Amino acid sequence: MTTKTISVTQTLAQLGVTRPTQASPLFAALRREFDRDAEAAREEAGWKAFRDAWLGRKSGVLAQITENWLKPAPPELKRAVGQALNELRPHVEAVVEARRAAIEAGAEQAAAARERVDLSLPGVERPIGSRHLIRQTFEEIERIFLALGYTVVEGPEIETPYYNFEALNIPEHHPARDTMDTFYLHLPPGITPRLLRTHTSPVQVHAMEAQKPPVRIIVPGKVYRRDNPDATHSFMFHQVEGLAVDTDITFCEFKGTVEYLVTQFFGPTVKTRLRPSYFPFTEPSAEVDASCHVCGGSGCRTCKFSGWIELFGAGMVDPAVYGFVNYDAKRLSGFAFGLGVDRFAMLKYGINDIQLFFQNDVRFLRQFP
Ligand code: DAH
Repeated sequence: MTTKTISVTQTLAQLGVTRPTQASPLFAALRREFDRDAEAAREEAGWKAFRDAWLGRKSGVLAQITENWLKPAPPELKRAVGQALNELRPHVEAVVEARRAAIEAGAEQAAAARERVDLSLPGVERPIGSRHLIRQTFEEIERIFLALGYTVVEGPEIETPYYNFEALNIPEHHPARDTMDTFYLHLPPGITPRLLRTHTSPVQVHAMEAQKPPVRIIVPGKVYRRDNPDATHSFMFHQVEGLAVDTDITFCEFKGTVEYLVTQFFGPTVKTRLRPSYFPFTEPSAEVDASCHVCGGSGCRTCKFSGWIELFGAGMVDPAVYGFVNYDAKRLSGFAFGLGVDRFAMLKYGINDIQLFFQNDVRFLRQFP
């Protein structure tokens, strides 16, 4: 607070004010001094001192004016001084109050600025995983067959040659064993050999051993072959096996089911074709082809200009297989199929390298949320 240039502790007489006309300039100077003080009172602490200096009950400027100027003033001055004081007082009071309000508002604004939430700041990203495309494809195929009343069953990945080969009508030295280069487990001699299943077909045998006909199952699972990894080969890949056995299953039901699977999975405009083939556990056997989903059958690089794409193997269950599970081959008939899940996913989503499924690069996986 600046020292007052105008002393309010002295009387008017001491200040040399004797005529009424001298009151007005004196109060005008006082008012300028007050306005300067008000300018300086910008913070709460400063404001309190400022208020007390001017409005303090005992030693405030206005109180001292009353005490030292007005009260002892000679009659000829009293009126002028009283009037000037009455004009000064509301100004002082109004400005002190205005400063208080301004300081308070400023403090609030500052606090608000400190606490403001910046809604444009990026939040904390919590990555959400998703099912692997192979898992999604399994579930897609399962959904299709569950709608037809099939049951999903699973079987062991470590098998005996009996389940993987013999009971599927693939005896030892049968050339079909060579096409499925097999991982055998290292076991002490004298123990039944074990292998990693080369296909999901052995679960057909387990299922028929475990239940009486009718059977309508699909078997999702991993299979293993001693293949060198490349864009279309992997030593572990995925299959879904299908098996339907009942008293009056015809080739017609087989064909209809296969067509249903293909159109459900690849789309309603895709055509199917059955091509004669050979599997030891089916007779007759077929390769199921689909019209090329890329060119629609007119021929392109994907279908090697044939218009068709080989999808999977299938056929009517060979009666010899029923013999291994004590099913009555005379009374029963059925069909089976085994499809490559990786191949299905690659064809449907245009993936050109099976290794992508196993590298688990999130840039790949994220494309299939
Ligand atoms: N198991 C065969 C394979 O992995 C696929 C297959 C073909 C399964 C015909 C079947 C079938 O059930 O009937 O190559």
